[in-house]
Amino acid sequence: MSEIQKVAVVTGAGSGIGRAVALALAGAGWSVALAGRREEALRETARLADEGAPLAVLPTDVTVPEQVDALFEAVRERFGPLGLLFNNAGSGTPPIPVDELPYERWREVVDVNLNGAFLCAQAAFRTMRHQRPQGGRIINNGSISAHVPRPKSIAYTATKHAITGLTRSLSLDGRPFRIACGQIDIGNAATEMTARMATGIEQANGSVLAEPVMDAADVARTVLHMASLPLAANVQFATVMATTMPYIGRG
Ligand SMILES: NC(=O)c1ccc[n+]([C@@H]2O[C@H](COP(=O)([O-])OP(=O)(O)OC[C@H]3O[C@@H](n4cnc5c(N)ncnc54)[C@H](OP(=O)(O)O)[C@@H]3O)[C@@H](O)[C@H]2O)c1
Repeated sequence: MSEIQKVAVVTGAGSGIGRAVALALAGAGWSVALAGRREEALRETARLADEGAPLAVLPTDVTVPEQVDALFEAVRERFGPLGLLFNNAGSGTPPIPVDELPYERWREVVDVNLNGAFLCAQAAFRTMRHQRPQGGRIINNGSISAHVPRPKSIAYTATKHAITGLTRSLSLDGRPFRIACGQIDIGNAATEMTARMATGIEQANGSVLAEPVMDAADVARTVLHMASLPLAANVQFATVMATTMPYIGRG
């Protein structure tokens, strides 16, 4: 099998893990489309890259089908065949007991974490299936919450479990078309989303603990490794976490 095209779409590229991954890919010679809702945040990611790196700022709300289609069409026109989607955009809620979670908040999280991830994966799959050379790779951003919940996080946990189903289906349905799909499950990378890990977060026994975090750049190195394999090989699932965070050993 021939190598994949070094053209990537990164969603949620204006902050945190998406930004770190976009910069790592750009540093490794990939052309990268930066997608997310906040244009200024995407521009800041582009400014942080080495001068001359082929980056495209493409403001996109991943929950809007027309915007997702326009994103992939713009990438095709600008860079040609697509090698990689890093399906990363996501959000959660503050800890809220199940019976107090407003339906609207539930829907918002489902809309970004599941519907948005599906729409981007579908557009990437369609592109990769029909382009020549055929094929490419999708890497979904799951979470430790794709395995076990934190207290009072039902919307985030349910949607991250659903990402695992997305990954498995895409892997199976992608086989005839040289489309590989893998998932990275991250635990406690230091980003805006995890700011409260370092200050104190509720544990299963009701206590509140500050938890260890790790550098988002170490997540980016893992994604870069997954992305750089030939399509004949795939990291199906990778768990990358702060080494001493509560998870292994039931705590
Ligand atoms: N940090 C961790 O330890 C950790 C652990 C497990 C999983 N994750 C996952 O990693 C991913 C990134 O999280 P992060 O930690 O880097 O947090 P973050 O900095 O809050 O990043 C979330 C990104 O998603 C984008 N986004 C949200 N809604 C969107 C929408 N409707 N359309 C397009 N983009 C949207 C945001 O950009 P805009 O607001 O500009 O749209 C933002 O750049 C998430 O899927 C998260 O669940 C993170």
